[in-house]
Amino acid sequence: MELDTKLIHGGPLIDQHTGSSSVPIYQASTFHQAQFSESQEFIYTRFGNPTRKALEETVSCLEFAKYGYAFASGMAAISAVLLNFSQGDHVILCKDIYGGAYQLVTEMFPRYGIEYTFVDETDLYAWKKAIKQNTKGIYIETPSNPLLTVTDIRGVVNLAKKYNLLTIIDNTFMTPIFQNPIKLGVDIVIHSATKFINGHSDVTAGLVVTNNQEIAETLFKTQKMLGNMLPPYDCWLILRGIKTMKIRMEKEVENAAFIAGELQKHSKVKAVYYPGLEYHNGREIHFSQAGSGGAVLTFDLGSYENVKDFFAHVSIPIVAVSLGGVESILSYPFTMSHAVIPEKERLELGVTDGLVRLSCGIEDKNDLLNDLFKALDHVKTADVLQKKIL
Ligand SMILES: Cc1ncc(COP(=O)(O)O)c(C=O)c1O
Repeated sequence: MELDTKLIHGGPLIDQHTGSSSVPIYQASTFHQAQFSESQEFIYTRFGNPTRKALEETVSCLEFAKYGYAFASGMAAISAVLLNFSQGDHVILCKDIYGGAYQLVTEMFPRYGIEYTFVDETDLYAWKKAIKQNTKGIYIETPSNPLLTVTDIRGVVNLAKKYNLLTIIDNTFMTPIFQNPIKLGVDIVIHSATKFINGHSDVTAGLVVTNNQEIAETLFKTQKMLGNMLPPYDCWLILRGIKTMKIRMEKEVENAAFIAGELQKHSKVKAVYYPGLEYHNGREIHFSQAGSGGAVLTFDLGSYENVKDFFAHVSIPIVAVSLGGVESILSYPFTMSHAVIPEKERLELGVTDGLVRLSCGIEDKNDLLNDLFKALDHVKTADVLQKKIL
């Protein structure tokens, strides 16, 4: 089955009992047991629910995985995976990482006696150098948030296999439309489905898929114990969003590629970070493992003051935490997605006070560009001495 077909038929499309053209919202906490002393497929919604199952099957199909689990948010999914490491384990993670994952690792791992090391994700040797005797897992995000750095998935997987390490990837930015890490040998794929998979900025959700039965059993048990599963109505909304994910994303990517190219030429923009740009670091690796540059780009306006002037004059994108909606979303990583990272480390990472992240929606690309350019007219300084193209 090709991707376009999988999006519609990858999971159950119709209700097996009534034939309804959309899987119903099984809004029930529990299920009548015809034989009270015998088990049956659905017992209690925390353990399993038909609407959630339909979503889990659909996403597993899209990601070439056998098993899938739907969680209440991307962070619920990330924590369900990461908190399954044990006392004394060591985990290696990319340094350009979503702020919430950073906070989970730096604040909760020490309480459970789990060691961690952040590495420069673009340097395969850095991953290798960080491996210790007690290393158990590798966690990557590519392209990363917010600087769109690229990790060589195949390279990291090869390393992990050699040292018998579990590989985990946050595939939120690329989605199964453009990047299929399971096919590249990754063990666990995580999504914040709040973003492109749902696509309408009206649900928070997380997904985890794997091909490994043992990992799947652990995830199922974790979800059951922590009770952090996605409610039926939200599962239904995501199932609905998935059907149009490809056509939405194609337009969003087209817009992002166009905007990145134009912003790169603008005198008030110091740098543009977008894997689709010719000079982006890791571009070649990115396109060897992904099908597009994605719909998110980050650009540098040089200072907080410039960002303030810019945000005050944009009218098409909303200014908000999040990405992946049909509407364009501008955000300010310095005080939004990455605020939890201590300032010194944030600056070392390159998450400076001039950075703006844009998630392109499906609006007309010229309307979007004109709106951004109009706002840039209000940015006072044009002190770009040396344009940094990455
Ligand atoms: C790359 C990435 N992973 C995970 C998350 C967390 O997802 P959620 O907000 O659904 O918990 C986010 C949220 O912005 C994200 O950008």
